[in-house]
Amino acid sequence: MPALLIPPYPHRSSDWAPVWTAFVGRRANNSVHGWPEDAFQSTWKTRRVFGYTVHVVSDPDAIGRVLLDNKTDYERPALVRKLLGAALGDGLFNAEGESWREQRRIVAPTFSPAAVSGFANVIAEATSARVARWRTDKAPMDMAAEATGTTMAIIAATLFGGDARLTAPAAAGHITAMLDAAGRARVTALLGLRSLGPGSGRARAGGRFLRDTLGAMADERAAAGGGNDFYGGLVAALHARYPAAQARELAIDNAVAFYVAGHETTANALTWTIYLLAAQPELQEELRAEAQTALVGEMGDIDARLPRLRAVLDESLRLYPPAPRLDREAMADDELAGRTVRRGDLVSIWPYVLHRHRALWDEPDAFDPDRFAPDRRAAMHRHQYLPFGAGPRVCVGARFAIVEALIVLAHWLEARRFAVRPGPPPVPVGRVTLRPERGMPLAVSAL
Ligand code: HEM
Repeated sequence: MPALLIPPYPHRSSDWAPVWTAFVGRRANNSVHGWPEDAFQSTWKTRRVFGYTVHVVSDPDAIGRVLLDNKTDYERPALVRKLLGAALGDGLFNAEGESWREQRRIVAPTFSPAAVSGFANVIAEATSARVARWRTDKAPMDMAAEATGTTMAIIAATLFGGDARLTAPAAAGHITAMLDAAGRARVTALLGLRSLGPGSGRARAGGRFLRDTLGAMADERAAAGGGNDFYGGLVAALHARYPAAQARELAIDNAVAFYVAGHETTANALTWTIYLLAAQPELQEELRAEAQTALVGEMGDIDARLPRLRAVLDESLRLYPPAPRLDREAMADDELAGRTVRRGDLVSIWPYVLHRHRALWDEPDAFDPDRFAPDRRAAMHRHQYLPFGAGPRVCVGARFAIVEALIVLAHWLEARRFAVRPGPPPVPVGRVTLRPERGMPLAVSAL
């Protein structure tokens, strides 16, 4: 059997660095840089960070207790909600308690398997329209930028009726500025300060642009009594339950959340997956053949015809989880994996660490999609693989994201051949999402 590929992973250090080093130099801008080998072998590490007690937990049983079995005692940290609050308001992503339950009930049906199948044609059309504009000569293409443009077009097409205000190039710039700032703002947020970094003015402008645009769209939908796209349905459902002004705000809050949570994460999944295929030409050919056959049929159930691509996508989400960390705050004292957690402590779960943990995976840094063959997958611990989180707050868009990624990748493979270019490999950078440091330039050529 040929040796497995070990794709690039973030720099590791020999030991846990002092906490303050997370706020200067490379680690300040890259949350996955410099984790020590010990983090991938131990299951628990407690640190004091600016007065907070933070437990980094990589024990799947304990994670199951935090995210599922004792969920009511662990909420999204007030700190994180404050940090995201300016952009995401009180929508599903940031809400807790009854408000969260109510909004999840309103939104969940839109992302059901049947609803997602209904989006498949629109996803395919939005992807094809972009691929049709690609150059045909052998040229380097930044597939990270292409992935972001594609997922942004897909969110706008599927959820917001293809509104041109959201697909304009300026919109992409605004959203990127906003997300960037959220990723950088953690030091200032921990100190209770407003972000004063260089990007903050642009980020605020970006947030304003998005809220103003989505607000205008909400007013149009409300005046029309809803509308036949996702956003129209959401506006109508919220107006049926809340006073008009609150319904408007919640519609915007949720729309921003879907827009933000839905495109950047999936874009990173696409980017890392196409890189992994560019690095393995034989596997790429095999998957191209699978894609060519699958694209002949109906889009609605295409995922069933792409089992090998699905395994590759799952493995890509393991090695490069687009959401590399999940945090919770203990609302009450608890005992977790035989240790004491006090009310107010933070529990930090890092899919990036968990997915490469020595005790949970064979050859954790190697690319091996066979680990996601159905029988081997069934043997995994329920909480050792968490690209979409787990428990009641599991990603509401998970199925949407998987189907979307499979459809986009199948179209890309059907259209072109991808190859890595000479030079240093991409460096994974953890911000809110896990992205390559300098985009993903790949050689892209006709078949
Ligand atoms: C590969 C793509 C994606 C990944 C890796 C991802 C990952 C995640 C994770 C890990 C969470 C849970 C966070 C936590 O528990 O603290 C989450 C929540 C969420 N995601 Fe995704 N996501 C993706 C795509 C999407 C898409 C396409 C949408 C919508 C269009 C979406 C909307 C949301 C929302 C609204 C929540 C909050 C759910 C709640 O709190 O009830 N995500 N996502």
